[in-house]
Amino acid sequence: QTEISRVRNLERIQMGTHEIEPWYFSPYPAEFADSDLVFICEFCLGYYGALSQFTRHRAKCTLQHPPGNEIYRDANVSFFEIDGRRQRTWCRNLCLLSKLFLDHKTLYYDVDPFLFYCMTVRSPHGHHLVGYFSKEKECSEGYNVACILTLPQYQRKGYGKLLIQFSYELSKIEQKLGSPEKPLSDLGLLGYRAYWQEVIVDLLAETLESGTPQLSVEDIGQTLAMTTNDVLHTLQNLNMLRYHAKSHVIVLTEAVLGQRDRLREKEARKGGKRVIESGRLQWKPPV
Ligand code: COA
Ligand code: NA
Repeated sequence: QTEISRVRNLERIQMGTHEIEPWYFSPYPAEFADSDLVFICEFCLGYYGALSQFTRHRAKCTLQHPPGNEIYRDANVSFFEIDGRRQRTWCRNLCLLSKLFLDHKTLYYDVDPFLFYCMTVRSPHGHHLVGYFSKEKECSEGYNVACILTLPQYQRKGYGKLLIQFSYELSKIEQKLGSPEKPLSDLGLLGYRAYWQEVIVDLLAETLESGTPQLSVEDIGQTLAMTTNDVLHTLQNLNMLRYHAKSHVIVLTEAVLGQRDRLREKEARKGGKRVIESGRLQWKPPV
């Protein structure tokens, strides 16, 4: 299989206090290919090829958070819900920015059919964008995530897992089983597999400890708002599905329990596990 893609066009971008090297092509204005550094306003996501223009913009820009409703806030992060139809320019700017780190061929100029769930961290200057996922307002395939991204300056810190958890918390409120849009990128697959393994193994271990270890693949899916398919594939990948007396048995192997312990130790070293606290989510499915 041969991938054909356009060559990366931006050398470097500056966003807030970070300088980042893009990974892929994104259709920014053609003349930006000649800039050593492209300046992205971290609040409105506007883009500037020269420092003088960017400085003039920053003096005028009043935005301090993504332009939508804050639907979640805990000690570390907030989530804002943004309607692509109401905030077309901002959402197109977000898609342009995220295309720099996404290898798929299509870019959604048509942002109207999507909602954007943007995760931020706070500082005295405002709410700084860490990552987001988009979600089709009406998805016939039942996907609960279209696109998902952690900005590179924030990757491998557990934020991707928070984004994924948040997408499933929304599905729980909708009383639907969700799954991300396929195909997933390599990094997307790694992130989802890590999340699915963690939540499934946690659920099984807790059920076992509760003393009434009865849980079907469907029960797991219902509890975690995951599709039966994603549960099955995760269990199969982890070699946790066995056949005994002509029926399915789910086994908690030493291998997955050992990985769970190591994850807990790693989280403890980093000051505790970060999770979405579902009670803080103020959200109703859009009608
Ligand atoms: N190499 C190996 N494992 C990785 C990985 C990498 N580069 N990135 C994530 N993982 C796995 C690890 O198991 C990781 O846990 P660990 O750091 O404790 O080992 C786990 O995923 C969760 O990582 P986390 O820090 O929560 O994810 P993230 O904030 O880095 O975000 C993505 C994950 C997929 C959102 C991010 O890589 C991204 O934005 N990629 C570019 C855009 C993209 O491809 N999106 C998916 C399109 S479908
Ligand atoms: Na799923």
